[in-house]
Amino acid sequence: MNTPPLDNGAQDIVIFGGAGDLSFRKLLPALYMAHLHDKLAEGTRIVGVGRQPWSREAYLSFVDSHSPAFIDKEAWNADDWQSFLARLTYVSLDVTRSDDYAKLKAACSANGLRVFYLATAPNLFTQICAHLSSAGLVDAQARVVLEKPLGTDLASARAINEEVARYFDEQQIYRIDHYLGKETVQNLMVLRFGNAIFEPMWRAPFIKSVQITVAETVGVGSRAGFYDGAGAMRDMVQNHLLQLLCIVAMEQPISLHADDVRDEKLKVLRSLRKMDLADIKRDTVRGQYTAGASEGVAVSGYQEENNVPPDSTTETFVALRAHINNARWANVPFFLRTGKRMQKRQSEIIIEFADQPFSIFGTTAHHEPNRLIISLQPEESIQLGLMVKEPGSGMSLHPVKLGLDLQHSSNKRRAEAYERLLMDVIKGRLTHFMRRDELEAAWMWVEPILDGWRALDDKPRAYSAGSWGPAASSALMARDNLCWFEEA
Ligand code: BG6
Repeated sequence: MNTPPLDNGAQDIVIFGGAGDLSFRKLLPALYMAHLHDKLAEGTRIVGVGRQPWSREAYLSFVDSHSPAFIDKEAWNADDWQSFLARLTYVSLDVTRSDDYAKLKAACSANGLRVFYLATAPNLFTQICAHLSSAGLVDAQARVVLEKPLGTDLASARAINEEVARYFDEQQIYRIDHYLGKETVQNLMVLRFGNAIFEPMWRAPFIKSVQITVAETVGVGSRAGFYDGAGAMRDMVQNHLLQLLCIVAMEQPISLHADDVRDEKLKVLRSLRKMDLADIKRDTVRGQYTAGASEGVAVSGYQEENNVPPDSTTETFVALRAHINNARWANVPFFLRTGKRMQKRQSEIIIEFADQPFSIFGTTAHHEPNRLIISLQPEESIQLGLMVKEPGSGMSLHPVKLGLDLQHSSNKRRAEAYERLLMDVIKGRLTHFMRRDELEAAWMWVEPILDGWRALDDKPRAYSAGSWGPAASSALMARDNLCWFEEA
């Protein structure tokens, strides 16, 4: 069920971790864009909450010096920025001290919608919710946004879910996965369910394989404290990649209603074939980057990064072959791959169609499989690989791509994922947020792989920064006579 829409009254958007990275890089720039485009009701306030003993002025000056760099230059202007800052206030609070929440209560308006965005370490979520509730800040309209990662395994995710559920109903809880806010990801549902031509072929045996790649050029940066304990599996696969897989693989929901969509995604997650140790050994590859060159600049290896233990065995790369146990996807491998410090920033989904059963052009004809290439970032495009006739005499074949540039296909502004998702929270739209059972089902599939790696003492394979990952990743595809798209 969606939260009932509220009247257009003012809202208090309370950001725990108000001076943190996520807040000044993503949330405040997203809220500025919403403000600029008149999407925040008059009187809506943004309350930054942090440990720093700052005054409001000190917080504003912090935001003023940090956030504009993350706002599109063309969208930033001094007047709108000042009127945006006027919405901001700050509460200095130790989240573990219940007494401090009285200060937050005093800073919030007495009535109106309260959105609590928990951009803190997940081990603080339950305490914050409990204190918010005892301070009388949680009413039937309040909403809580939980940033990923939600837990580090099934037990911790369940514990958080259970605790938060003591204070908020499920329809008040927004578990955010910012990939679900990306325009192209949302477009994928329209591509599949808004066009008649795909559905009959969107299944085995017409589809031979699916590849989902989220490659980044950045390294771990300043996040080693979090990342070294998480690794690519928890940071990316458990959430972003599995959510993409769900949208590619799910059945058509009976409506766009949040629970109808989430029911279908849940079925996919529950149909993922569990891996045993032999599967893990054969079908997964862990990697860790070593020194190399990223976009032409020499960069250090993961173990040399700040705050990374020199003997760390955390994976910065994962490739794996998954299977979905249902009739639509019988025997269709889904290859998932993500890594830091890879050759290109490239997130894409490749649907490879089955080979023609018979070709009148002979076996020597250069015949590429038809592929649907959905690029999520940095380009936002859809391309369909087709064979055409090579000009001239004879009947030689030649591959071409039929392309749609989504970025330039409309003059309408394309909002960033966080802006779109924050607006969904304010409007009470849960469709693009994860439900509790979805999150737990994702952990149920991921956790045995993490355990298996430990049991097998599987050390990550080295790959040079700026490459496409360890050679074993290509070998994983080659076993099925396939290759990653950039190798095709
Ligand atoms: C975050 C991960 O969820 O997603 C980061 O924690 C990663 O490690 C980021 O860099 C990638 O997001 P995007 O939108 O830049 O692809």
